Amino acid sequence: TWTMVNIVEEQVERIRAQIGSKRVICGLSGGVDSAVAGALVQRAVGDQLTCVFVDHGLLRKGEAEQVEKDFVAATGATLKVVDAQERFLNALAGVTDPETKRKIIGREFIRVFEQAAREVVAAAGDGDEAVEFLVQGTLYPDVVESGGGPGTANIKSHHNVGGLPDDLRFTLVEPLRELFKDEVRKVGEELGLPAEMVWRQPFPGPGLAIRIVGEVTAERLAILREADAIAREELTRAGLDRDIWQCPVVLLADVRSVGVQGDGRTYGHPVVLRPVTSEDAMTADWARVPYDVLATISNRITNEVREINRVTLDVTSKPPGTIEWE
Ligand code: XMP
Repeated sequence: TWTMVNIVEEQVERIRAQIGSKRVICGLSGGVDSAVAGALVQRAVGDQLTCVFVDHGLLRKGEAEQVEKDFVAATGATLKVVDAQERFLNALAGVTDPETKRKIIGREFIRVFEQAAREVVAAAGDGDEAVEFLVQGTLYPDVVESGGGPGTANIKSHHNVGGLPDDLRFTLVEPLRELFKDEVRKVGEELGLPAEMVWRQPFPGPGLAIRIVGEVTAERLAILREADAIAREELTRAGLDRDIWQCPVVLLADVRSVGVQGDGRTYGHPVVLRPVTSEDAMTADWARVPYDVLATISNRITNEVREINRVTLDVTSKPPGTIEWE
């Protein structure tokens, strides 16, 4: 639309004025905000931008590929991918406490991103070519919340790279500072980003790790990824994406129950469907998903994911329950 074209043009001009001929780096998380911010900066300064994607192995099915293939195809951006899956799994081995999981993931993320940023800086050289800028997908509500002027935004997720060391300081480029989420999505569409990326529902920075109740292992991640993909596919097919705020699928990895699948008795794991409606995630209600949609999800998960023999529905509002289980 006309307004979105204007927003894009205005931001592109501003970004060019701010960055000049310097180089700039952008961390992509798989989420909407960093993708749109990165795409805007790419539109403005092209090859001066290097995007960095830390693959921590905790994203949902297809999401890493969305960043590595679709984002690049849509924007033409230079992307540095760091495959850190082993590193995150090792760091999470034996850990079951939710807050400890978050701390470990946040810490490892900063370390890996910092290393990647150093490599980008080193490759860029000095003088006019130096990397001086870092893109952040700060939105207007974040700005208001932190009461901040430029560069003071307090980003809640672990993708906050404010924790970088002193010798790796950047000036922030924040092209979404004046926008609300719905406007960010429209700008993303205008920039030609894939719809699955632009319309992605909220997803926590620590990813699937906080949707496995129990220790995070590669095998459990694979199981949850399949179940989650089925739930998402069926909710989309039923046209419910815009009605539902998000639908975590939670793997109760340490719980087993008896079932019958095919010819025999099974002793598998349950998953919990947690569809919620919400305005801002501060409060939420459990979503009244039609029974036939729930039935399809349940049938497909238990048929297609061998390790899961039971599908349950969470009917708790927030409060008292949080949206995520951890
Ligand atoms: P809760 O579970 O607190 O979640 O009701 C509220 C919203 O925040 C998301 N969430 C997170 N996002 N890092 C994030 O970036 C986190 O550690 C985190 N924990 C929860 C959750 O998905 C929901 O949208």
